[in-house]
Amino acid sequence: MLGTMRMLECQRTTNEWARFFGSAHDQGVRWLHCSDEYESFPLLCQCLAELRATRPGVTFRFVVKLANPGFDDSRFDESRFVARLSSYSEHLGTDHFDLVQWMWRTKDGGDAHRVSRFLAESARLDQSFSTSVARGLVGQVLCFPYSPTFAHAALTLPSINGLVIYRNVLETEYESALDDCMRLGKHALAIRPFAAGKALASAEATPETLLRYSFSHPAISGIIVGTSSLKHLSELLAASAQAE
Ligand SMILES: NC(=O)c1ccc[n+]([C@@H]2O[C@H](COP(=O)([O-])OP(=O)(O)OC[C@H]3O[C@@H](n4cnc5c(N)ncnc54)[C@H](OP(=O)(O)O)[C@@H]3O)[C@@H](O)[C@H]2O)c1
Repeated sequence: MLGTMRMLECQRTTNEWARFFGSAHDQGVRWLHCSDEYESFPLLCQCLAELRATRPGVTFRFVVKLANPGFDDSRFDESRFVARLSSYSEHLGTDHFDLVQWMWRTKDGGDAHRVSRFLAESARLDQSFSTSVARGLVGQVLCFPYSPTFAHAALTLPSINGLVIYRNVLETEYESALDDCMRLGKHALAIRPFAAGKALASAEATPETLLRYSFSHPAISGIIVGTSSLKHLSELLAASAQAE
């Protein structure tokens, strides 16, 4: 799965980025990870619109990030959840999201408070998530937990199919949550296998060994990696075929 957070770090025109995504698709990439909170989001939407006009066969499946409650809210709001999905539909040109990366954020009270608020509202959340799936808006809801404790709590909800977590040689704190995923028949996506490039600094590390590490728990069903280079992308695809 190709991450789109760092697009603005690379000096490219919309047209050049559209060609990059078209070539990534030609190489076999079918999933994009994105967020309307990323500054790159408008550029991504322009690229996808350009591809719809010039290469209609190039289509992607999405992992979209959606926080609810956000930092400024006190509780989960179903109407805002649905409105954010509609907004994603409008901007990304699709009315179905295979994977929603859902987050519970809060400004106050720390993690214990966040977990207890989530548990108190979990029946309502479960209902909302199940309804979105039943209506065909969403394939699965995965939780980006911010903490292992929240991960264990989130996995108790039937409508949460798994997790999105950081997993690389420098970030390893979700092992027991991944075991929980396996026990419950759920799965997880690993974000930033190279620790945003830091893990590649070590002399022994190669993209293949690092991807192999990120894939190394059986609950991991996919990896979200960032690249702005078609050469790196083909190395990543070859390495991930070896590492899976
Ligand atoms: N909380 C969240 O939801 C969250 C947080 C962080 C990231 N993310 C998502 O995860 C995606 C990936 O994260 P990330 O980009 O920060 O970290 P990453 O995937 O661990 O690392 C990306 C870095 O690795 C380099 N790279 C990629 N393939 C390479 C290769 N074959 N050889 C050498 N270098 C290579 C890239 O440089 P080149 O561009 O030169 O290839 C880039 O500098 C993001 O785009 C975003 O979509 C989500």
